[in-house]
Amino acid sequence: MYHIEKNTVQETLIIPLYGRKVCSEHFPHLFKDPEAERICSMLDYDFEEKGKKMESAAGLFGALEVAQRQYDLACEVKDYLKKNPNAAVVNLGCGLDDTFRKCDNGKCKGYNIDMPDVIAIRNELLPESDRERNLAYNLNDEAWMNEIDAKDGAVFFASGVFYYFRTEDMKVLLHKMAKRFPKAVIVFDSCNSRGAKLMTKTWLKEAGIADVGAFFSLEDKDELKNWSDNFASVSAKSYMRGYRDIYKDVSFFHKLMIKFCDSYVKMQIIKITFR
Ligand SMILES: C[S@@+](CC[C@H](N)C(=O)[O-])C[C@H]1O[C@@H](n2cnc3c(N)ncnc32)[C@H](O)[C@@H]1O
Repeated sequence: MYHIEKNTVQETLIIPLYGRKVCSEHFPHLFKDPEAERICSMLDYDFEEKGKKMESAAGLFGALEVAQRQYDLACEVKDYLKKNPNAAVVNLGCGLDDTFRKCDNGKCKGYNIDMPDVIAIRNELLPESDRERNLAYNLNDEAWMNEIDAKDGAVFFASGVFYYFRTEDMKVLLHKMAKRFPKAVIVFDSCNSRGAKLMTKTWLKEAGIADVGAFFSLEDKDELKNWSDNFASVSAKSYMRGYRDIYKDVSFFHKLMIKFCDSYVKMQIIKITFR
């Protein structure tokens, strides 16, 4: 059993991991994730409280969100690999997410980056496989960029990570990446400031997390355009409907939630292509 410390940023990896497991149990026609189930069963963490909350209608919507987000980002990774089969596939703030393996075409190179204590647990539960590396770095330390072999292209993705970044740090990170990795792509989820406030009040507070602030938020993708001269394009798609529209497959309440997320909190998947 592997212990997860409470009240840390690292603990936030539990929410999407457990969400994918719950989603797999409740919506098997939409998502099946035996890996999330296996990993949860190996963690020394009190899931009971989280379990109760996630079984409510609102909680189940949260589970749908995290599973859908992984699906969306995997679509972008697979799409990039069609044209760049040997590319680097870089999971920024990977937690215990195995998207690289879900997208592996047998040729690409996978990099999973997170804080050292998360990578220590990852190395036990999801040890590196062929063409895959687990890297212990703070993403705000640009040294991680030296580890990436991007000669055949690179697709970066971050799932539920940038809410923990200050806007200034996000600017610096994206600016440096755009300069360093020409023609690469980065995809990540975002919401507006209303969404970020809701997240701190609900998910993170409920999770008993005290030391994280939801900093980065985005009302409109165009706010990013001036962040770097090396951005060739910035596009956005609906989180819940942009890649696979599950609207018709969910309950009336969840349909309302999808509309709320699209219009009120602007939950989007952002894609930036570097020049
Ligand atoms: C909500 S979890 C998401 C985990 C994973 N992406 C997923 O979807 O399952 C956020 C993750 O970002 C990592 N993280 C946050 N800030 C980071 C930083 N500055 N450098 C590296 N990792 C970071 C945390 O340790 C945590 O594992």
